[in-house]
Formats: sequence, structure tokens, C-alpha cells
Amino acid sequence: MNALVVGAYWGDEGKGKIVDLLAANSDWVVRYNGGDNAGHTIVVGDKKIVLHVLPSGALQGKNVAIGPDVFFNPASFLKDLNHVRESGFSPGKIVVDERAHVIMPYHIKLEGEKIGTTKRGIGPAAQDKANRTTDVTVFDMTSPDFLKKIKEVVNEKEAQLTAAGILGKNFDAETYCRRIYEVYSAYAARIRQYAGNVSYMLNEEIKKGSSVLLEGAQGSLLDVVHGTRPHVTSSNTIAGGAAANLGIDLRPFKIIGIVKAYPTRVGEGLFVTELGNYEDTKNEERNKPLTIAEKKSVVEGNEKLLGRWIRMDGAEYGATTGRPRRVGFPDFVALKYAAMINGINEWAITKIDVLGGKAFKAAIAYKKGTSITERFPFKLEGYEAVYGQTEYFWPSMTEGQCKAAVSEGYDALPKGMKQYIKELVRHTGIPVRMISLSPERDITLINGVFERTVEYLRK
Ligand code: IMP
Repeated sequence: MNALVVGAYWGDEGKGKIVDLLAANSDWVVRYNGGDNAGHTIVVGDKKIVLHVLPSGALQGKNVAIGPDVFFNPASFLKDLNHVRESGFSPGKIVVDERAHVIMPYHIKLEGEKIGTTKRGIGPAAQDKANRTTDVTVFDMTSPDFLKKIKEVVNEKEAQLTAAGILGKNFDAETYCRRIYEVYSAYAARIRQYAGNVSYMLNEEIKKGSSVLLEGAQGSLLDVVHGTRPHVTSSNTIAGGAAANLGIDLRPFKIIGIVKAYPTRVGEGLFVTELGNYEDTKNEERNKPLTIAEKKSVVEGNEKLLGRWIRMDGAEYGATTGRPRRVGFPDFVALKYAAMINGINEWAITKIDVLGGKAFKAAIAYKKGTSITERFPFKLEGYEAVYGQTEYFWPSMTEGQCKAAVSEGYDALPKGMKQYIKELVRHTGIPVRMISLSPERDITLINGVFERTVEYLRK
């Protein structure tokens, strides 16, 4: 099976676990967008592995590739690779596209504070990509003329680098270029063996009948065109981005949307169903469990504390930056939009266990003044959520109960959980293939899920 995995909300949907699971039946696992702004967390036994650039298929000994439109930080790539090897795993073949855009030290330094980015230099590298004469590719980095290329680029960017204080007091341009070269040529020496053309490679593999898994980073609402601009990342995160970025035909691919049971968002930007507000989230005491009195106040309707409770139970702190993630009520408006812009065939729901024991509702429309819409607006300013009538609730499940549900099948899930899933399916028009009930690889319910959730669309 060829499949593409894409996040439905603003990233951090738990794609790492689903990719890891699907990778078992894949020959190749391929990253098609983003860079080391992403952090994919995978739990295998007692090991927790966070990968930023390397596709998580590496943990299953699969062949992995990094596509031509990835913003490639060579240090992060080598760190991921070491991390995987030191944890006792060994990837199959590795291909890094020679056209991938290399994140240079000045990209990270040039990154401004404005929109709450991950500070990995993604935006400045994307500017150089669009500029076309100041980008550095893996091809450049691994060529014998690398130093010359660095000098040309630094020369063209001299005014910008001087204005930012990167050149001047500490470094003249010549010394700066040599410093970069020293570090990056050492990376290049290790990466040269992996450089290749991922488009040719993948097209040949697909033709041969190999099964390919495409791993998207970030989420649909962070797409540079279709997301909540300006608070988005610099690449196309949606499924179609894979066709454009990799140069492949997506028709043989199943598009799997990963929907976390509740949306989260890191960094700035409006968030219609947010529980509490971002300022409080930033200032709250971390990892502090709720007291009985606080839980009681949640039952009485304290949404800010419900947000903190979900953040705690779901360990919602950024895998890349450690920032607390903002948490919201499920948003069927956003999910319906994600289903449309990606062409999603089926959902994989993650972290639904986290909502056990917590009553919640879901947005079914947005409202601005007197006008109500079911469409996801370009600008979210002034919109508030219209919630459905249903209050969802089920008691939290123990690990034993989760494991039992995995073997017994969909019907064994708590009634309130099935009601939530049913309404999610009906609002989005998309059935569910799998439901993750724990970070553990094995605690994922597949048995009966598709058959039952397709029925929701018939009745
Ligand atoms: P950038 O990708 O570092 O430029 O950040 C742009 C926006 O995307 C910020 O709001 C980031 O918090 C967000 N972002 C980037 N990568 C991820 C991710 O992997 N998960 C969640 N948010 C992300």
C-alpha cells in the first residue's frame, strides 16, 4: 500500500506513532516538507525517540528518503541518525535529495521574533529558496566548489548579514565563510554518500511495486498557502505538497489524515476553540497536576483549567522547542476543511485516551456577529465557535482496558467515545481507519474501526 500521512490541525497530532506503525508494511518512508522545526516522537518499548529530520521509518530498518523541498539542517540529520543508531536501530538505505535546501548558521541567526516560530531558520532559508541565487543546496554542500559557493552567497547577503550584526565586529566575510566551511564540510563528508535524486528514485520504486509511505511534517493549518497566515510555516504541508515537492503522482496513494482527539497549537495565531488563552498558557506552572478542587472547577465549566488538564495528561509540550502547546475543544469546522484541502480518504485518531474522564464539546460552525459559517475562514479575527448540542464524556480507561479494546474491537470502546467518533465522521464525511489509545506502538485499535465508522456515513 502507498500512503501519505498528513496532520489535520496545526501539527503535533501524533503522526510519528502512526508513521512508525504504517512503516512496518512499507519499503520506503519519505519526508516531503518542513525541516527540523518538526519533532516526531516515537515510543518503542521503554525507549522514547524524537526525530526532527530523519523519517521515523528508520526505526524499523526501512529505507528512508528526504525530499527536494525539505529545509535540511545537516547537524540535525546527523544527530537523528546517531540517536537512532545509539538506540539500537539501523535504517536501510538513506537518500537525501541533492536539491534540498541547506539551513545555514545565518538562517538561524536571522530568524526574527515576530510570529512565534521554532527558530530553526526555516523562514530565512525559504526566503533564500525564493530568491534563487542565495540558496545553498545539498548539491552545493557536497560539491568540491562548496567554499566558493558560500563566499558567493555571503557576498550577496553581506548587507543583510552586517545589518543583523553577524558580520562586522566579530567576523569579516572571509573569516566567516571559512568558519562555516570548516563545520559544514565536515557534515558534507558524512552526508555525500546519501545525496541523490529522490524524484527519480521514488518514481522507479513505485513503478516496481515497492510500497511507499510519505510522512508530512507540521499540519494542514500551518500550510504556507492554505493555513492561518501569517502564523504558518514556510512550506506546503498539505497532501498535494507531496506531489509538488517530490515530483510524483499521488493517485496511487491513500491519504490518511491524522486527527488528534483535541487540537493544539504552538506559537502565535488565533485559535477559535482555544481553552483559556495563550498568555496564561505561557505563564502557567509546568507539569503541575490539577488538585481535586481544580478538577471540580473544571466540572463546573472552568475551560482554562480543562486546557491545562489536557495539556498535562497529553504531555502537550513542544518536541522541538519545549513550549507549552495551546489546547482547544475539537473543531469539526477545521477538520472538514482539512479533509477537503488534503483529499483525505480516512482518519487516524490519536490521543483519544487523554480525553477520558473529561467532559467536552465540539465546534460545528463559526460565528461572527450574526453570520454563521461552516467554512474555515482565511482570517479568523472576530470569529467564535458555535458548539454542537452534545456533551461528550466517558470514564478514563486504564492501560488494561485500552489493550482489551484493541483485541476486542471497535464495539468495546466506551459509548461516549463512540458518540464523539460518530459525530466527527458525520461532520467531516470521512471514516476512521485506526484509533490510537496510548503512545505505545501496540495499543492502537484497528479491528472493526473502518467497517463501523463507514456505517456512520450510510445511516
Ligand atoms: P517555523 O516552521 O519554525 O517557521 O514556525 C512557523 C509556525 O509553525 C510556528 O507557529 C511554529 O510553532 C509552527 N510549527 C512549525 N513546526 C511545527 C511542528 O512540527 N509542530 C507544531 N507547530 C510547528
